[in-house]
Amino acid sequence: MTAAVTSPIIDRFRAFLDASPTSFHAARFAAQLLEEVGYTALDETSAPSPLAAGERRYVLRAGSLVAFRVGGMNPASAGFRIVAGHTDSPNLRIKPQPLRYEHGYLRLGVEPYGGVQQATWVDRDLGIAGRVVLRDGRSRRAGLVDIRRPLCRIPTLAIHLNRSVNDDGLKLNAQNHLPALFALSDDKTADPFRALLGEELGVSPKDVLTWDLALYDLTPAVVSGLNGEFLHSGRLDNLGSCHAGLEALLAANDDDVPATTAVLALFDHEEIGSTTERGAQSSWLEHVLGRIVRDAAGDDAGGLSRALTQTWLVSSDMAHAVHPAFGDKHDGEHMPKLNAGPVIKQHTAWRYATEADGAALFQQLCEDAAVPSQWFVNRSDLACGSTVGPLVAARLGVRAVDVGNPMLSMHSAREMCGTQDQARMAAAMRGFFRG
Ligand code: CO
Repeated sequence: MTAAVTSPIIDRFRAFLDASPTSFHAARFAAQLLEEVGYTALDETSAPSPLAAGERRYVLRAGSLVAFRVGGMNPASAGFRIVAGHTDSPNLRIKPQPLRYEHGYLRLGVEPYGGVQQATWVDRDLGIAGRVVLRDGRSRRAGLVDIRRPLCRIPTLAIHLNRSVNDDGLKLNAQNHLPALFALSDDKTADPFRALLGEELGVSPKDVLTWDLALYDLTPAVVSGLNGEFLHSGRLDNLGSCHAGLEALLAANDDDVPATTAVLALFDHEEIGSTTERGAQSSWLEHVLGRIVRDAAGDDAGGLSRALTQTWLVSSDMAHAVHPAFGDKHDGEHMPKLNAGPVIKQHTAWRYATEADGAALFQQLCEDAAVPSQWFVNRSDLACGSTVGPLVAARLGVRAVDVGNPMLSMHSAREMCGTQDQARMAAAMRGFFRG
């Protein structure tokens, strides 16, 4: 019997997944890893200050992060090499006034965030994590919490009371069935939820103003399968891409400074459409790139637009591997497999930002890294998903390609992918950053 095989990159990937129950934690953890290799925070409110070749900075905005390493040539002439992904995953968000007392139980009211596969959230041990905003005198401050212990559960109804469940599927009404069991209590005078948050953050409950909190499955990421070929975790979509991009940027530290400026852009809010202040449809990345051009090249009118003409975007989001029981959901010639390499995704209506030139670029990046690549095209009679790729490419006016590693159970509370593909995607992205 073969023991579960693992590798250093998979150990680091699992650590990233487990440390990132929400987008806030993912962006902060990425920033911490970048700091360890010499990246420093760039204050968006600071006055312009010169950026030298090879300088490494990051900008953290709640659950979004942009990190960059200035290239050896003026970015206005050499352009950017941008890897983009998203930090958020579908989950259940705790409402502002969550307490629901019913039949002696206290439940927490939740609202689905993104395209949640609701039935996968039942009968799990759920923790609570996210951002809490606290009173700070007349001002406010935000703190992150990760209450990593079983606190909540969404219990199924016994099959005896739901005889048709196996024929009809588990249908859950988001309003009535998803609120999570939190306590046995009918004391409506107390606010045990706020008290819990106050205790976790070391403040008085009255100073807990409000929050962006979500439930998450406490089960850690594991390697599985007879030969350690699978990885199971929540949030693989799209922490898998965030981690591959991060690995590539961290590894690029050991490479000579190339002509082009490497940028890693990890956006929050993709699962709800990206039209938010720090989402992929916002002006944020454009402003950060504009600042890089100005600070690296001196005040250069038109520098950003020149830089963008020389820029490439690799947008990475997880891809649909063929499911053993549902092969007919794929186009027969475009069936990505686990552990068969990064997937290039194309869609004629540009739900994926791929055309022949970008796809060819990525194929060569894979060839140079000696890793296989695969294609995904949706069945022509099925609606297609999307990514941050088209949004960022259109907003900036840059050439792009959409890629991603293959996975199963997308948007489940517990997804799965292959253990061989992470290193391959990171290697292709590292080559991309070399310019
Ligand atoms: Co995604």
